[in-house]
Amino acid sequence: MSEPSLRKRKAQLSRPDSNIEPSKPAVTQEKSRDYRRIIYAVCLLSVAAFIYQYPEVIEKLLNEWLGFSEDDATIDGSNSDSIVDFSADVAKQNAVVEAFKHAWLAYERDAMGDDEYHPISRKGTNLTEAGGIGYTVVDSIDTMLIMGLTGEYARSRHWVANKMTFDRDANFNTFETTIRVLGGLLSAYHLSGQDSIYLEKAKELADRILPTFDTPSGLPLSQVNLGLRKGVYDSDYPGLVSTAEVSTIQLEFRYLAHLTDEDIYWEKAEHVMAVIKAARMPHGLVSIFMNAVEGKFATSAIRLGSRGDSYYEYLLKQYLQTNQTENVYREMYDDTMTAIHNHLIQQSPTTKMTYTSELVPERNQQGQISWRLTPKQDHLVCFLGGSLMLGATKTGATVHKISIPPKPRELTKEGLRDWKSGVELVKTCMRTYDTATGLAPEIVHFRIPSDGMEVSALAPMDWYIKGAKHGAPAVYDARYILRPETIESLFIAFRLTGDKRYRDDGWRIFQSIQKHCRVGTGGYASIINVDQNPAEQEDKMETFLMSETLKYLYLLFSDADVLPLDEYVFNTEGHPLPIFNPTIRTGFS
Ligand SMILES: *[C@@H]1O[C@H](CO)[C@@H](O)[C@H](O)[C@H]1NC(C)=O
Ligand SMILES: *[C@@H]1O[C@H](CO)[C@@H](O)[C@H](O)[C@H]1NC(C)=O
Repeated sequence: MSEPSLRKRKAQLSRPDSNIEPSKPAVTQEKSRDYRRIIYAVCLLSVAAFIYQYPEVIEKLLNEWLGFSEDDATIDGSNSDSIVDFSADVAKQNAVVEAFKHAWLAYERDAMGDDEYHPISRKGTNLTEAGGIGYTVVDSIDTMLIMGLTGEYARSRHWVANKMTFDRDANFNTFETTIRVLGGLLSAYHLSGQDSIYLEKAKELADRILPTFDTPSGLPLSQVNLGLRKGVYDSDYPGLVSTAEVSTIQLEFRYLAHLTDEDIYWEKAEHVMAVIKAARMPHGLVSIFMNAVEGKFATSAIRLGSRGDSYYEYLLKQYLQTNQTENVYREMYDDTMTAIHNHLIQQSPTTKMTYTSELVPERNQQGQISWRLTPKQDHLVCFLGGSLMLGATKTGATVHKISIPPKPRELTKEGLRDWKSGVELVKTCMRTYDTATGLAPEIVHFRIPSDGMEVSALAPMDWYIKGAKHGAPAVYDARYILRPETIESLFIAFRLTGDKRYRDDGWRIFQSIQKHCRVGTGGYASIINVDQNPAEQEDKMETFLMSETLKYLYLLFSDADVLPLDEYVFNTEGHPLPIFNPTIRTGFS
């Protein structure tokens, strides 16, 4: 309808010009040419001024010109009005459930109640001499509930009710115990239809952890003696605590406060965020260590990987957990995502893979600190792709209900930026699975011009495993320890786009795990070199295989109304907790 009328207007406009020109005498033609020059210059200047003042308008026009803003166009240019198919892929789900049972039943047979499992020697071990605290059992319960494994669930519940105790006189990691055991109990409580045994145990555990917050700054100490109810400094890092560890207990303590109406859990966890906010560094990023006495950042690396990762994850999730009512987290998140884009997100030289770097502080002879950008990315960082996409649809939305997949006009400039980076980071993480085993290494490095490496067999691609040599013993970075982060991002990406490609990617990873990590006699093992096929296994089955890796795979193939992202946040160990409107107000801003 609009096309013909547009053409008509153009035709009318051009007519006067062509009529007037020939009738003008020669002298005035000279003059009018000068005039025209001036008018052109004025026009050009006004356009330039306009672009300078309103860059968004131009960007929008450009986007429209690129075909983005058509009502039915989506960000990757596909047509979204075709109905997104979220129906479960039952055959693949069943395969994942079979894998879960293969892992669980071996553990139950050989090591029930022990904290950790070693599938090759078919033995369990505990984290401390003082005895187990239900690390593996509690980490697995909600997955059983989600998968509908009633027999396995009943036996696990029985163990929790009758065997589990936290009266262990030994030091446990505060953060790990919170995310795995406290998080697992809270999720089990919710998913079991409020079976009170889990809430009682959760409360008891939280009370034993509370004394770790009794430091001058209020930052919790990294270890807790559960039996003595006492916080303990990490002797390897005197006086210091990890930023990610102190800032990744909030979802758990806040939900417990909501359930019990006891403000203390809320206040202790929230105070940590206030300390971090006050300690802000000029660039808006955080270092991986903080001083537990002063509550300030200690000079240390800045990264999205270990000891940094879930700080960024929980900024968003705290905002989502209380139904987007606490603006302070949104502000911190917005600020931080801009900082990440300004300082850490990079592109590889040849194939333009989007990746994240680390900033490592270096002190020169005068004692001044400079920051060296290091192109190293932990597998742990692969949570970020999905997190950025989720964040874009929540903090970067211009409409109340965003489409699946989002349309560019439904996102703010920052939302669009985060969405695109998220999509690219998921792609990059998938490309790190392009190895001999189809599994990704623990740590990858990306090529930069100053690395001095020739393009050779050693570094054939834009990324490589540092120090890996053919035929030499495997380096630490080359292992795959059943990590979930990429699959977690695939799950979120699928829920937000309905793009079947993400299910295909997840299925490929699952098949590689089946091929290389599965132990014939039961359980799954880590492998020590992703570039060696057949792979050599290592005698360890991390608990996050059952709490995260297999859960996210199962959910990837589920119908989208199983644990919808509008109603749940997943803690960093994959334990889903319901979103709620807060009744507690403590005034942190
Ligand atoms: C782990 O702790 C539990 C509880 O004290 C104990 O029964 C079990 O034997 C311990 N396992 C190992 C391998 O020591
Ligand atoms: C979240 O807030 C919206 C209103 O903004 C409300 O409709 C919804 O029920 C709330 N969700 C929960 C879980 O409280």
